[in-house]
Amino acid sequence: MSVLLAPSILSADFAALGDAVATVERGGADLIHVDVMDGHFVPNITIGPAVVASLKRVAKVPLDVHLMITEPDRYIEAFARAGASYLSVHAEVLPHLHRTVHAIKDLGVKAGVVLNPSTPVAALHDIAADVDFVLVMSVNPGFGGQTFIPRSESKLREVRALLDRAGNPAPIEIDGGVDLGNIARIVSAGARMIVAGAAVFNSPDPERATRDLKAAAAAALASPVAR
Ligand code: DX5
Ligand code: ZN
Repeated sequence: MSVLLAPSILSADFAALGDAVATVERGGADLIHVDVMDGHFVPNITIGPAVVASLKRVAKVPLDVHLMITEPDRYIEAFARAGASYLSVHAEVLPHLHRTVHAIKDLGVKAGVVLNPSTPVAALHDIAADVDFVLVMSVNPGFGGQTFIPRSESKLREVRALLDRAGNPAPIEIDGGVDLGNIARIVSAGARMIVAGAAVFNSPDPERATRDLKAAAAAALASPVAR
């Protein structure tokens, strides 16, 4: 399995999202990570299905839509229709997570479950065989440009072990504070979908930053760093 790089447009210029997508695609982006925030589950507010539909018209790579909202069940269909290829929902807000995951899959979209930094891996135990991917938050969601929480590295290994025990080869995504300084360790710990916002869009050359992060991830996959 290769490593997919998913630049997060949260740190891009919202007046020029089409340009941002084209730029990171030139750099080799595999997915576009879209952060949906409702001002309730997280303190910030971002975008909804209409913007996702517009992004879908211009993006050549699949859209990876991360729902940081309190009632994802109400909006899953709208985001699927808007063109999400991957849709992830937070375990913290879903008492019927199994139903939600299967509702996403029934729409023909890859279903991911997200864990906040304080949410134990055990929250995935009974859904591990059902998910298409797991997203490990390595910052508290809400804002770009935060610092990677070190515990996330061992959490990646724990999630990998849980998925393996369930016989599920689903990839693990990591989101928050990823940069050129830590991407090798993150890949070595098992991440195969890598979100990067500030490290791409706050750099002077987002196309090159995308290319450099992808190269570093591929190198780490070929020769993992020691624990
Ligand atoms: C944070 C979002 C992230 C964010 C990551 O709540 O879920 O996707 O864009 O940004 P960086 O890479 O800057 O931490
Ligand atoms: Zn995200």
